[in-house]
Amino acid sequence: MTLSNLYPDRGKVGRTPALSQRADEVYADFMSDTRNQLLHAHWKQMSERGNAMMATASAKIEHSHAGVAKAREVIGDDLYLSTFLRVKRSCQEIYKQRIIDSYGLREAEFLRRLDDAKKRGPGTLTYDPNFVYPDYAKVHIHIQPGGYVGHPLAGMLYDYGTSVFYGGENAEDALHVRLAQQTATPLDGKVERMLEIGCGIGQMACEMKRRFPDAEMIATDISTPMIRYGHWRSAEQNIAVHFAQMPSETLDFPDSHFDLVFEHILFHEIPIPVLDKTLKEVHRVLRPGGTFVVWDFASAEPGKPGYAGLVGLMDAADNGEPYAHAFVTCNVEKRLEDAGFTIRERVKPGVMMGARVCDKAG
Ligand SMILES: C[S@@+](CC[C@H](N)C(=O)[O-])C[C@H]1O[C@@H](n2cnc3c(N)ncnc32)[C@H](O)[C@@H]1O
Repeated sequence: MTLSNLYPDRGKVGRTPALSQRADEVYADFMSDTRNQLLHAHWKQMSERGNAMMATASAKIEHSHAGVAKAREVIGDDLYLSTFLRVKRSCQEIYKQRIIDSYGLREAEFLRRLDDAKKRGPGTLTYDPNFVYPDYAKVHIHIQPGGYVGHPLAGMLYDYGTSVFYGGENAEDALHVRLAQQTATPLDGKVERMLEIGCGIGQMACEMKRRFPDAEMIATDISTPMIRYGHWRSAEQNIAVHFAQMPSETLDFPDSHFDLVFEHILFHEIPIPVLDKTLKEVHRVLRPGGTFVVWDFASAEPGKPGYAGLVGLMDAADNGEPYAHAFVTCNVEKRLEDAGFTIRERVKPGVMMGARVCDKAG
């Protein structure tokens, strides 16, 4: 008898396969509530406290070895901040490992199901089993062991992991549903071909396909495990999304092909040179009059550092967000303009998030 036969299929929690044991699920719920109580509820206060302490010490908040060392020195004796940051990291380690261990009890069975799903429609799945990942994509992002590319169940781990991370806010993909509804479209109204870059497990892509059922939806990501699971997940919902493995910086599509391109939380997870190449590629594959919507961390503004503040700096240093600090301080708006886009609108739906709606000249 294989290990996976010892654990019966417990069905799904919403759109996500249930963990292998009830006890794991209860524990994940506990971690989600704990994060809400100990982290989300204090984020703003702790951010302000850290930024003020750095200002008092005349210390620059800077993502470098020296900058992080200085920040540790400044906040080191502050019980509130040190505890907050320790809890943040420990929660992350604990819930991720529990999810990995739990799905791991049935790993062989899940891998078989992912293989079986390859043949299922209504969408399609394309990837290269011999794909060689660039080093920047191999980091253990969010301190998830294996990151996006190094664990065959990374897509499932991301799905359950983000449900804990969002503290219940993304049940049934509620967040992606809302953002898909708010995603701006080309001014001439034509939406026949859509592309998502860095689609992960396809939550936004599925919702955009629901919103525009007659349009073609192609969802690309660099990671095989993410799109393998994304394809299975969308097939289970009977949604026709076409998943393809493709780095955003080398898009294998003809010029002027898409009406609408969008990304959600990809850009703060890639290095700036990759971001710049991606912007050029998106501009190339968009048709004249087409629209690119960037849903990502808000850019730092004078007096409002947001993620560029102390808590963001320590997230970059200790919580597996190596590229985020650079992203929020890189002036992505100017980079978008340099790549040829006109920024139609900027929307700030939350403290952390910002949308930039960009058009390619018609
Ligand atoms: C934070 S996840 C976002 C996934 C999804 N958009 C969502 O809304 O949940 C970032 C995704 O970007 C992918 N990624 C990282 N670098 C990439 C690149 N150069 N090209 C395409 N995808 C990339 C990762 O594999 C991961 O699935």
